[in-house]
Amino acid sequence: AAVCRGCGNLNKYFFHAAASLCQMAVFYTNYTADFLYYRQYAQNLQRHLQISLRNTVGNYNNLRLIAQNIISLHNIAQAHVLCAEGCSDGCQCARFICYLQTDICRCGQLIFGRLGGKDVMAMEGRFHYYEGYNMKEVTFPIRVMYELGIKTLFVSNASGGMNPEFKIGDLMIITDHINFFPEHPLRGKNFPTGPRFPDMHETYDHALIKEADQIAEEKGIRVMHGVYVGVQGPTFETPAEYKMYHRLGGDAVGMSTVPEVIVAHHCGIRTFGISIITDLGLEDTPVEVSHEEVQVAANNAQPLMTEIMREMIRRA
Ligand code: HPA
Repeated sequence: AAVCRGCGNLNKYFFHAAASLCQMAVFYTNYTADFLYYRQYAQNLQRHLQISLRNTVGNYNNLRLIAQNIISLHNIAQAHVLCAEGCSDGCQCARFICYLQTDICRCGQLIFGRLGGKDVMAMEGRFHYYEGYNMKEVTFPIRVMYELGIKTLFVSNASGGMNPEFKIGDLMIITDHINFFPEHPLRGKNFPTGPRFPDMHETYDHALIKEADQIAEEKGIRVMHGVYVGVQGPTFETPAEYKMYHRLGGDAVGMSTVPEVIVAHHCGIRTFGISIITDLGLEDTPVEVSHEEVQVAANNAQPLMTEIMREMIRRA
């Protein structure tokens, strides 16, 4: 059994989480420029924090307490960002909290930094449903961000394009989504952040979409618009599945984002999303997909996406 290094307690995982955050706060306060020392410290805490948070996610009161801990430890800002793997690259990092270790991203970090001249909070790596996390866990960071007072959420992901006008490496501004996950993130007792039956008409903020279009035009960046279909994965789609999702109204399909966006919307957080088209599943022209190819396409398109988001945050 794991004994908490902080307090020696075996059972009360929530308090372990709080204790860890407190320890980190002390560390941050004293943090100067010793990055390597920080890394080592953070790595020691990582496993411990992961266990703690996983035992906390389903409980609204615990969640509020965790958030309040973070609030009292950090000077939290107005603009906040949620990024997919590696998308926090453009962010000048100030402080980190390690929170997860995923299948495909070795460094899960909550980053408090600066982007577009504003203070932001970014997630490097997210919890995916296909990794075995339940929906409460997948959306836990959004709940914490809400409690921290965030007003706007920027999401990004990689997806397979089904719209025949799309090319690999395109950026698709998400205008709407279709939720194909087998579990709903709002299932269960309603959290008092929003109504039991939330309206979903403007889940992706129209004003933010308009602003992104304008910025893309100014910078000469090609952007497409489309509907994102969220599926559980981890398999990529069969040709028949791509065809079905396209005929149902989807332009791109991916394995993330929808749960987080639903919870953000339930919390009244304005949301803007961009999907990087990393592969194509076009009717009658099936192309094999590998995770490596998806990563290469995502890495190439990512600076353009960051450019748009950075400018949006600068103008916010
Ligand atoms: N399907 C599902 N998820 C994805 C894809 C895809 O084609 N590409 C990147 N993520």
